[in-house]
Amino acid sequence: MTRREFVRRVGRYGGAAATGAMLALDLLGKPSAALAAEEPVTPAGTRSAGGKRPRVLILGAGLCGMSAAYELGKLGYECELFEARGRAGGRCWTVRGGDRQTEVGGPEQTARFADGFYMNPGPARIPGHHTTTLAYCKEFGVQLEVFNNVNEAAYYLVKGLPRVRLREARADLRGYVDELLAKAVRRDALDRPMTAGDKEALIEYLRDDAGLSPDLLYKPSADRANFNRASESRGYVYQDLPAAGSHPGKISNALDFETVIKAGFGKHLGFEHQFDQQPTMFQPVGGIDQIARAFERRVGERIRYHTEVREIRKTSDGSVRLVVADQLEGSTREVFGDYCICTLPLSVLRDVSADFAPETADAIRQVPYEEVGKIGLHFKRRFWEEDDRIFGGISWTDQDITQLFYPNYGYLGGNGGVVIGYYQFGPDAEAVGKLSLAEREAHAIEQGEKLHPQYRAELRDSFSVAWQKIPYNLGGWAVWSEEARSALYPILNRPDGPIYLAGEHLTYLGGWMAGAFESAKAVVLSLHEASARA
Ligand code: PHE
Repeated sequence: MTRREFVRRVGRYGGAAATGAMLALDLLGKPSAALAAEEPVTPAGTRSAGGKRPRVLILGAGLCGMSAAYELGKLGYECELFEARGRAGGRCWTVRGGDRQTEVGGPEQTARFADGFYMNPGPARIPGHHTTTLAYCKEFGVQLEVFNNVNEAAYYLVKGLPRVRLREARADLRGYVDELLAKAVRRDALDRPMTAGDKEALIEYLRDDAGLSPDLLYKPSADRANFNRASESRGYVYQDLPAAGSHPGKISNALDFETVIKAGFGKHLGFEHQFDQQPTMFQPVGGIDQIARAFERRVGERIRYHTEVREIRKTSDGSVRLVVADQLEGSTREVFGDYCICTLPLSVLRDVSADFAPETADAIRQVPYEEVGKIGLHFKRRFWEEDDRIFGGISWTDQDITQLFYPNYGYLGGNGGVVIGYYQFGPDAEAVGKLSLAEREAHAIEQGEKLHPQYRAELRDSFSVAWQKIPYNLGGWAVWSEEARSALYPILNRPDGPIYLAGEHLTYLGGWMAGAFESAKAVVLSLHEASARA
């Protein structure tokens, strides 16, 4: 039996069997170049008369829409994508010199980054366990490099304290907490019943974890003679690193326990322990949009750019009618299809006239979106590398700018670089998003220069994005409360007649490119099963 025949037969069965079989076939699970190269397969038992291939109208040429079109194409469907912008990729977007963006009610902004420099206003990092994202990169030859999500040399700045290196903050926090626990165990101050052996084992672990002294104290020593594991973790002061001759290096002094606790240390220090944020993470070489462009090269002919969806209608024969507006010509027209995959963010879909079932329409209105903002600061000189020895990674602060991302490419290059000067969420992002472009820059500088006094002298230019004000996005990603997840999520994931909603918002991978891909996979399978049954 040929692969083609197999797919045809499987399509007839539908349901879980089809899903299993298609996954076994590498279809969708691991995108297969081999299959794509084959003649398109005509799906069995479709509604379209006269052996015509079923037509799928896809709203939005972001990663979800494009990957759905790509996979449906392999299965023999005819797809047409409608994209309001003049570019594909949606949030998978890279800004380079000359690129423009106008926010809702805001002035037009033109990026003035130098050649070879960019910022990723949206997605920027890929966890190693996002297998579909990485499989597409492999299939399309999108070159990857490491995204440094954790850099112990980056700064940590909280109120009332001078900036410290992340490694210093972490060593002190761990050191004192381990010390406390070790002492409590020694004094039998813990409630739990433990044997003497258990206690010794725990103390040994704590001693090792933080490098506690034999008397169970956290004492990193600036004195080379008392050098211990705690010293080793906390590290050397950068002005006096180990070198030749009479330069053994100077270990930095620990902060005291009270200071560490009062400063609320640790607020950001658990970030990289999240499953999604643990190294190794990746980024495409040259910008995140290399992924979008790879899809665009494959399905771009079927994308109608500058085409806004105005109406989504169900016809009496169970198919779909759209009214779309050509933004360049100012004209509207109707388009017909057997199915529709709608990947518009719910924040945008809300305002499109559509024949959704009342409960679907209601659910679409109820899911809120996160306010998210980033600013790219193009500096003339890579002072964070040259002066501070920070190569990639993230500095954290309790100021509302929240974090700085250093570029993970072009290390020690001569022409400066682009730092993400804030990456904020929720109310902070909302407030900064309301500022003018100049005010946003001033805000980023004012807070950022507390970590890097070089800021003001070295700034060349900036570009900022407030996702809640970006047309056709109106938010960073969907925010799911537990109640909404149980009451609304199942409704939105159910096809509404011939209309299938899809996107990161309909997954457990919200705010990740992986969400777009997984949603596309799920919807393609579900649509294919329905088509086989029809
Ligand atoms: N994926 C995005 C990021 O890494 C947004 C996100 C943050 C999503 C945290 C989920 C959790 O920043």
